[in-house]
Amino acid sequence: MPKLVIIYGTSMHNTERMAVAIEEGAKTEGIETVLKNVNEANKNELADADAVAIGSPNYNHAMMPTVKKFLKDLSDIDLSGKVGLSFGSYGWSFEATDDINKILTSYNMEMVKDLLVKRMPGDEELELCRRVGSLLACKIKK
Ligand SMILES: Cc1cc2nc3c(=O)[nH]c(=O)nc-3n(C[C@H](O)[C@H](O)[C@H](O)COP(=O)(O)O)c2cc1C
Repeated sequence: MPKLVIIYGTSMHNTERMAVAIEEGAKTEGIETVLKNVNEANKNELADADAVAIGSPNYNHAMMPTVKKFLKDLSDIDLSGKVGLSFGSYGWSFEATDDINKILTSYNMEMVKDLLVKRMPGDEELELCRRVGSLLACKIKK
């Protein structure tokens, strides 16, 4: 069964809300999903994933240090050809998702368009996150 792994950092739960909605959308397509806060994530879970979504809010013009460390530690896992998504909540700038994209691209992942929500996602934004999750699932089901 196709597998999507979603790993996120969050401080005030906005990026977490996005992550939960992405998983909800993916599940409607009947794929296997794993959803973990980066503090509880194990990089080995990514080895047999078909798609990986990494989320981080923007803090002080950067992604959360815990997410950055997790991404750097992935260098010994073969991620090439896997589908990637970066996502996160922000206030006024986009460094976190830009940097996630850069790192995952350097691992030869095939990135889809990133998903950004300003501050707390409302109903519309959560629906968008569900749609992206479902599209990601469809992409890896093919
Ligand atoms: C101390 C602090 C620093 C922040 N720095 C940035 C920043 O540099 N750029 C930005 O776009 N938003 C910044 N924000 C806003 C957060 O990205 C925003 O509140 C986001 O929704 C937090 O996501 P989370 O709930 O997943 O932690 C900052 C917020 C705080 C409290």
